[in-house]
Amino acid sequence: MHQLRRNRRLRTTESIRSLVREHTITPNDFLVPLFVVEGKNVKEEIASMPGYYRYSLDLLKDEVKELWAMGLKAVLLFVKVPDNLKDNKGTEALNPEGLMQLAIKTVKDIAPEMLVMTDVALDPYSSYGHDGIVEDGYIINDPTCEVLAKMSLSHARAGADFVAPSDMMDGRILSIRELLEAENYKNTGIMSYSAKYASGFYGPFRDALDSAPGFGDKKTYQMDFANRDEAVKETLMDIDEGADIVMVKPGLAYLDILRDIRDAVDVPVAVYQVSGEYAMLKAAAEKGWLDHDAIMMEQLIAFKRAGAHIIASYFAKDVVRLLG
Ligand code: PBG
Repeated sequence: MHQLRRNRRLRTTESIRSLVREHTITPNDFLVPLFVVEGKNVKEEIASMPGYYRYSLDLLKDEVKELWAMGLKAVLLFVKVPDNLKDNKGTEALNPEGLMQLAIKTVKDIAPEMLVMTDVALDPYSSYGHDGIVEDGYIINDPTCEVLAKMSLSHARAGADFVAPSDMMDGRILSIRELLEAENYKNTGIMSYSAKYASGFYGPFRDALDSAPGFGDKKTYQMDFANRDEAVKETLMDIDEGADIVMVKPGLAYLDILRDIRDAVDVPVAVYQVSGEYAMLKAAAEKGWLDHDAIMMEQLIAFKRAGAHIIASYFAKDVVRLLG
């Protein structure tokens, strides 16, 4: 009696393993988050995100040039807004000469073909550090959607290719899509953070932008991490409202959600490997407890395996360097 099927035959050498490999990572997979600050000649390392920086507009140019030369062709912009420009309504978010609007133009000047996506939410602009307008301690939905739509239009006017609403208000995709259509920005895309959970993994990001909520938490708008079925509902609604790409966030602890959504939708699916995920690996690697590059690749492949078409990740440059 002989065994007729031996699965290990397909694992004997790297040549056969690479021939039958189901998933790979390339520079085309990535969206690169970029943090922009006011000032000149600023490149500040974010304390809880070793190797990741905030750039002023002048130095942003060099970073964008480098990304483009590395084959990284899509960026996701975030801005750090000075306290004196913050209020409850996110007024500064609509300033045509605001930092985000200038950052969009800066990237497009340096690399016209770089795909520019922008974060749309009020938290970096909010004196309360919340993603929407606060009234009596509650984040009010519909007036927030109106501001988010105007903010998206302002980004589109400045040259953004996609807006990426990360706020989780109900109906914001529809508000944004309708205003963009009405103003003839028919080709401006929307990447919706459609299944975004209220997560402890965002801690380092809030340090990066000084955007931690001033009171309470984000549980009245971001999703409860105990829920799975709800993620598909949220996502299908966003697609009906006009989202071109949908997203799951955070990444590694939410691979079940990623697979559910990939199976349920017919649009590209993105995942955001968030700041806390980056910080955990950097810290463990610094201690010598984990092999940085091995774990980085294993986690990224896990996203592809779970169904991601697109990965927003702070590791993008590390990966391209490793791939050589
Ligand atoms: C803002 C926003 C957050 C992130 C992306 N956009 C923070 C939050 O919702 O509190 C988190 C990104 C990360 O942790 O890397 N709405």
